Amino acid sequence: MEKLMISGGRPLQGTVNISGAKNSAIALIPAAILAESEVILDNLPLLSDVAVYSEILEELGATVSWEGNQMRIDPSHIISLPMPNGPVKKLRASYYMMGALLGRFKEAVIGLPGGCNFEPRPIDQHIKGFEALGATVTNEHGSIHLHAKELKGAKIYLDVVSVGATINIMLAATRAKGSTIIENAAKEPEIIDVATLLNSMGASIKGAGTETIRIEGKSELRGCRHSIIPDRIQAGTYMIAAAATRGNVLIDNVIPKHLEALTAKLIEMGVGIEELDESIRVIGKEKYESIDVKALVYPGFATDLQSPMTSLLTQANGVSVLSDFVYSNRFKHVPELARMGAKIRVEGRSAIIEGHPLNAAKVKATDLRAGAALVIAGLTVSEGVTEVTGVEFIDRGYDHLVTNLRELGADVWRQND
Ligand code: EPU
Repeated sequence: MEKLMISGGRPLQGTVNISGAKNSAIALIPAAILAESEVILDNLPLLSDVAVYSEILEELGATVSWEGNQMRIDPSHIISLPMPNGPVKKLRASYYMMGALLGRFKEAVIGLPGGCNFEPRPIDQHIKGFEALGATVTNEHGSIHLHAKELKGAKIYLDVVSVGATINIMLAATRAKGSTIIENAAKEPEIIDVATLLNSMGASIKGAGTETIRIEGKSELRGCRHSIIPDRIQAGTYMIAAAATRGNVLIDNVIPKHLEALTAKLIEMGVGIEELDESIRVIGKEKYESIDVKALVYPGFATDLQSPMTSLLTQANGVSVLSDFVYSNRFKHVPELARMGAKIRVEGRSAIIEGHPLNAAKVKATDLRAGAALVIAGLTVSEGVTEVTGVEFIDRGYDHLVTNLRELGADVWRQND
């Protein structure tokens, strides 16, 4: 079993370069199969989820080559084979194969997705969208079967603001007949990134990044080249780690606007922040104020930074309240932080965090962001070695985490037992 070992207590110092966004990459790769010719993706993050996605496409007959941070996807020979099991089960975002295959072939069979299951994550809004476009959708023995004689544009109001449903409906609607309007759409930057790729492929999508997205369906899309936006969650995680270790770190290759909600909260705590065009400097301080944080849909504070932020708030003076209005129970990191001496109580959607120094312990990452929270917690502890298991979750979303932290002066290593 592989573990991350952390001998903390050293302030992080230096520059960290942020890679392309995971949650864009794993939507852009399936989007590529809507084209009839080669799509080139640049600034690709080197992550296990990206590798799994290239496996999924290869199983369907696409030619995928991946060199450094560039992936070339030639979908010209792809077919819509049923995929009840196999790699689709390893990844939650395999649900994007539903929209992409439905758009291109009008049919798909995809096993219900796996991935980070910190709480039940329904896909009813995705299905509602596909049905509105004219597809028949059934769940047979744990696989979703989608079929349409023809996809026709429709007006779809999402009952829940969902990143996945917004992107999935966009994927199918780009190859539907006529106009589709998605109302109450999610506004995350990753949605704009997917729309930018699809538009470069010849689609007509307007309003991505607002709550109303309009799509004019096209009968054919072509290949293109696209560079993935920087990963705002990875950037936010390093910003929080820099503050938690009282370090001084330049977070480079970011879009500061995407991090505004976090930046505002760090400033409110007393963290020093300098914003530049494509980078943010985080200057840690000895003392931090307790604050209240509400995780909301974009442009609110990101739920994916809620767990890392919990670790930082253990370092503040007084009691902070961190509430998650996107997921009602994303608190599996809390009992693990408690093993490290944290004083946190969960009440409904909120974690109530009393500032208190942490100690080294053996802890387990139960999902990707919970893992990031434990690494940050370990970095704050100056005596002893924190051992984090569940490294495979962390590898899903953090490109070169150990190398980056070591370059910032942390004493972190992987160990195999
Ligand atoms: N929801 C429904 N029905 C649906 C879809 C969503 O009730 O059909 C609910 C969910 O249960 C949740 C809320 O709506 O309470 C928002 O879920 P959303 O669909 O936006 O989440 P997602 O698309 O499945 C993506 C990211 C997550 C991130 C969320 C929220 C990907 C692959 N995943 O998930 O990222 O937490 O948006 O921003 O893009 C992560 O990176 O660690 C991660 C979990």
